[in-house]
Amino acid sequence: MNIEEFREVWEENKELRELAANDKDRLNYHIMPTSGWVNDPNGLCQFKGIYHIYYQYSPFDVNGKLKLWGHITTEDFIKYQEHEPVLYPDFRYDQNGVYSGSAVVRNGKINYFYTGNVKYLDGDYDYIMTGREQNLIACSSEDGFNFSEKELIMTNTDFPSNLSLHVRDPKVYHKNGIDYMVIGARDDNSIGCILVLKGKDLKDWECHTVIYSDEKFGYMWECPDLFDLNGETVLVTCPQGVPEEGYIYKNVHQNGYFLVNGDLESKDVNLSEFRLLDYGFDFYAPQSFEDESGRRILVGWMGIPDADYTNRTTENGWQHALTMPRELILKNGIIYQRPVEEIKSLRGDNRTFTADEFKNLEVENLSFELCAEFEKCNEFKLNLRNDISLSFDKSKGLIELNMGESGCGRDVRYAYCDEVRNIDVYSDISAFEIFINDGEIVFTTRAYTDGIQKIGFEKLDGLAKVCMYDMKKI
Ligand code: FRU
Repeated sequence: MNIEEFREVWEENKELRELAANDKDRLNYHIMPTSGWVNDPNGLCQFKGIYHIYYQYSPFDVNGKLKLWGHITTEDFIKYQEHEPVLYPDFRYDQNGVYSGSAVVRNGKINYFYTGNVKYLDGDYDYIMTGREQNLIACSSEDGFNFSEKELIMTNTDFPSNLSLHVRDPKVYHKNGIDYMVIGARDDNSIGCILVLKGKDLKDWECHTVIYSDEKFGYMWECPDLFDLNGETVLVTCPQGVPEEGYIYKNVHQNGYFLVNGDLESKDVNLSEFRLLDYGFDFYAPQSFEDESGRRILVGWMGIPDADYTNRTTENGWQHALTMPRELILKNGIIYQRPVEEIKSLRGDNRTFTADEFKNLEVENLSFELCAEFEKCNEFKLNLRNDISLSFDKSKGLIELNMGESGCGRDVRYAYCDEVRNIDVYSDISAFEIFINDGEIVFTTRAYTDGIQKIGFEKLDGLAKVCMYDMKKI
């Protein structure tokens, strides 16, 4: 599909957009598709004051078939503007999808690297695949809107021969004057790993090394992101095929990070233990960037591939969303995530409660933020909807998100946690982002309810103060 074909189909799809716009599950302060499907955030950057948020977008198909790069900009994370998509599968090397990629602001322009997906389909059937290419493609833009010609940089035969055909999602890391590019991969033995390329001034890319964890951790690692944060080097990635372990890794695919020790240049690198970034049902493929003020900001896909739970928005012409932008800080080897400061400007009317008052509160407006500060808390059960609760039990060292019927197949998720000091729950109609202990533990999930909901403490052993804000629309 090229831009002309896109424009034609866009015209034909007015009804789909109207259907989506009128859905009661639409979100107030999250990025979501006008119609169709969204997945990974791509090409995140700030250029000349403007934040560019591109994303995997399939505007005419709620189940996400052919992928383009959608485009939204903001100057303040409060007001957003949607633009026409920027990258279409109109090139021999990306004809079956402009897959995920990233951006580097340098030399007065934005430089993009992404994966062009090519499927070899059986001549008679467009669903039987006989092979594929995952191509590394570069392009650039002087304004974030108008793009240069696409250039093929590498294809599967240029990658190390022990890698499978699954090699995708490039992200650039710059250290000591050298450019490295990390790309998610699956090797011939079905072990997840990261291919590292080395380049000079974003050109002349060559294979440098392949990074593995000490022990096999899944069969494929998608969407890697390598960056320095508060003196450590962090590798974020999304491993697929990791078995459940105790109370964690219950999602079909994981998201999280390793700390990277050693020296990338001399290829002497080892990875720490893996830690989840988000313990909820709907979080995957996060990407981060450093903004012009030096903040490390991360946006994730509020969704996950291959899950067996559903989203009722599909009946109304759209599916999935992106998380709020989160600022990252690393302390004692742990990443803390908090919505960027600007999100506070979305706060409207507020009310404060003692723990005793905060029970069975009838709430009609499900676009709110709920902050609770705890003291000496041994246990609580906090209802967030009629049938959704967040519970903590100090004796078990666990925090639990229980979804009830409103989860549409989502049941329970846990995180290990010895103490709860504070929680910050963002409720946005059919979505939650829950930050515990200043963002040390995060749960992101979709949820589908109708009518007035009763929220508040059902149980509390400890002291708590609560504050609630209405949240405005972006
Ligand atoms: C992750 C992912 C990427 C790929 C993109 C395609 O969700 O599968 O690996 O580039 O989505 O939409």
